Amino acid sequence: MKGLQAVILAGGFGTRLRPLTLHRPKPVVPLLNHPFLHYQLALLAAHEVRDVILSVSHLPETIRAVMGDGSALGVRLRYAVEDEPLGTAGGVRNAADLVEGRVVVLNGDVLTDLDLSRMLAAHEARRARATIYLTPVENPTAYGLVELDPEGRVRRFLEKPGWDEVTANTVNAGVYILERELLELVPKGRPYSMEREFFPDLLARGVPFFGHVDPAYWLDIGTTEKYLQAHRDLLEGRLRSPLRPRGRALGEGWVEPGTSIAESARLVGPVVLGAGCRVEAEARVGPAVVLGAGCVVGAGAHLEGAVLWESVSVGAGARLSGCLVARDCRIGAHARLTPGVVLGEGSVVTEHSRVAPGP
Ligand code: GTP
Repeated sequence: MKGLQAVILAGGFGTRLRPLTLHRPKPVVPLLNHPFLHYQLALLAAHEVRDVILSVSHLPETIRAVMGDGSALGVRLRYAVEDEPLGTAGGVRNAADLVEGRVVVLNGDVLTDLDLSRMLAAHEARRARATIYLTPVENPTAYGLVELDPEGRVRRFLEKPGWDEVTANTVNAGVYILERELLELVPKGRPYSMEREFFPDLLARGVPFFGHVDPAYWLDIGTTEKYLQAHRDLLEGRLRSPLRPRGRALGEGWVEPGTSIAESARLVGPVVLGAGCRVEAEARVGPAVVLGAGCVVGAGAHLEGAVLWESVSVGAGARLSGCLVARDCRIGAHARLTPGVVLGEGSVVTEHSRVAPGP
């Protein structure tokens, strides 16, 4: 796929991931301690796509500070910034001046090991001008259902259909290949939706527009449940990513430099421990736990299925299970966090408190 460019849509508010996204935009939330977009860049680079434009709007400087110019990852990264959110198609249109020829467009919240080269080969073989990656799901009612004709041409789009409207199980997986000149159809400078306006317009104009159904691993990390699941799936090897956890392998875990683990503490893999963490005596960490840099796990605390961002301290004897804890939180001794709990940045849970998820 040499010479191809990519546009990644990274301008949404990420409301469904709140409170995690209040200070850190969804495209750069950590996943095994890498900013999420690093997984997309690694996938693109694995298919020789190294010229990438990030279409940003919400907290653009935070994204730029994390992602830089891409050189650390071997890609060229540029930014198309919207003053006001322009929607999914408007965001791609806003990046159009930086692209030519054919472009891969990705939603900035999709975790996948899709074979992009095979998708491009299908696009070319069919002489398509637009190709959309479709993934089969059990419940299409939460997604954009896409119906194909027997030749694989897109016949119809149905956003979040009712069960009585479900005619297929293939949904929009948020990865597209588009010929650059199609972007001229998107009005400039005003909000415009890919799913609700641009794609139906392509159909109305009879543009050769095909679906590419692929059973690759696919997950949209847009909700807290899915974000936690993405960690589990990566830790348990359910998808292939060229991006490995940082640090050295230790038993069934990965540990970054400067982390100390008391001799009587137990790591139960798979786990990932960031740099400069401290795990104290008799603590048990794992399975499926990720600690961001600088976390402290107090004596006798138990963590299972939990993702902690940077600089979280967990008091002695605390129990954390199936939860997400953003940066700089303090969990007091013997506190209990049950599955589904999500704590925003800087939260303080006093000792012996019990926290359970709301509706
Ligand atoms: P929610 O608020 O939780 O729905 O998340 P979101 O704001 O990210 O919206 P959604 O998941 O529907 O967006 C799909 C992708 O498009 C994400 O990668 C967003 O970052 C991106 N996106 C959504 N709206 C815009 C926009 O107005 N401009 C740009 N550039 N990207 C957008």
